[in-house]
Amino acid sequence: MFSKERNMIADVVVDLQYGDCGKGKIAHALCRDGNYTHVIRYNGGCNAGHTIYHEGIKFVTHHIPCGVFFGIKSIIGPGCVVHVDTFLKEIEELEKQGIPAGDLVKVSTNAHVITDFHKIEDKKDEEIGTTKRGNGPAYRDKYGRKGVRALEDPRLNKYLISLYHELYENEEFENIEILFEGAQGFGLDIDWGDYPYVTSSHCTIGSAVLNGVPPKSIRDVWGVAKIYETYVGAKDFEGPEDIFEEIRELGEEFGSTTGRPRQINWMDFDMLKMASRINGINKLVINKMDILDEIGIWRAFHGPHMLEFDSRDDMEFWIQTKINMDVDEGIDTFFSGDKHNI
Ligand code: IMP
Ligand code: MG
Repeated sequence: MFSKERNMIADVVVDLQYGDCGKGKIAHALCRDGNYTHVIRYNGGCNAGHTIYHEGIKFVTHHIPCGVFFGIKSIIGPGCVVHVDTFLKEIEELEKQGIPAGDLVKVSTNAHVITDFHKIEDKKDEEIGTTKRGNGPAYRDKYGRKGVRALEDPRLNKYLISLYHELYENEEFENIEILFEGAQGFGLDIDWGDYPYVTSSHCTIGSAVLNGVPPKSIRDVWGVAKIYETYVGAKDFEGPEDIFEEIRELGEEFGSTTGRPRQINWMDFDMLKMASRINGINKLVINKMDILDEIGIWRAFHGPHMLEFDSRDDMEFWIQTKINMDVDEGIDTFFSGDKHNI
């Protein structure tokens, strides 16, 4: 019988821009190197796509957290919405590729279901440029108290879990060590993003805490960004330079769920700073350094200015120094160039 002294530690991976910054890669590396008992997805539905390279093979997951690649119990938390057919298909696909997802994946009883009606409704969206996966209508019904919870859908029976019991009363675990894996990003957050060009859930660290852990359990907050920015949706985002076409091709900037070309622009440092502050990050990972290395241009917006750097080293130094000066001296910064490894 464990006591109330039971130790609970949680690390969180959050995206500081508009999604697609490589959270999947970071979460995968953390699972590989860490001692997590659980991986929990804390927001979003099958609108999100994580691209993960595991042992050299490319996997695109939508609902399922990346703990499955390492035999870690992987939970879809109450902050998520689940399209059941897509979820079951994803499990089947992973199993076919030799990943025992069926045994490892659980769905929190109080997560909500994306129904086919939600999907049909979302298909009509033109204003926001959604992924048309039923995400917005499912969250609307959840908050309108008309939603269907996972425990009400018999197709999910075998996967259901009581998250409260699991985290606080399951005697199988002496200590709980969670990796929280988020979806989308700060610029798409329902409160902090550019409303209405946002998703229907919270994409900040607050969302991880809402999934059932006390704030004091948080250890590391990994903020993930890219050295340039991408956005998919209806608003105009791309800068005027022709070079963005090249970045899109080199960086393979096409939606992993929808295949849509992502709009590209230079890094907005002020947004990176705001997202870093609000999420209280202590680790910053900037991905896709290799793409700007290839084109040999390093730029960022800072207030009304566009900064131009002579080299990758200059840009790295500037970001690192500014983040430490403006946000927190204790933030460790990592620059990653290789698509498959950090
Ligand atoms: P929804 O989440 O499908 O409702 O889409 C709302 C906005 O968020 C649209 O601009 C989508 O393109 C964007 N979005 C949703 N999920 C992702 C994602 O995983 N990566 C990038 N953009 C996303
Ligand atoms: Mg993505």
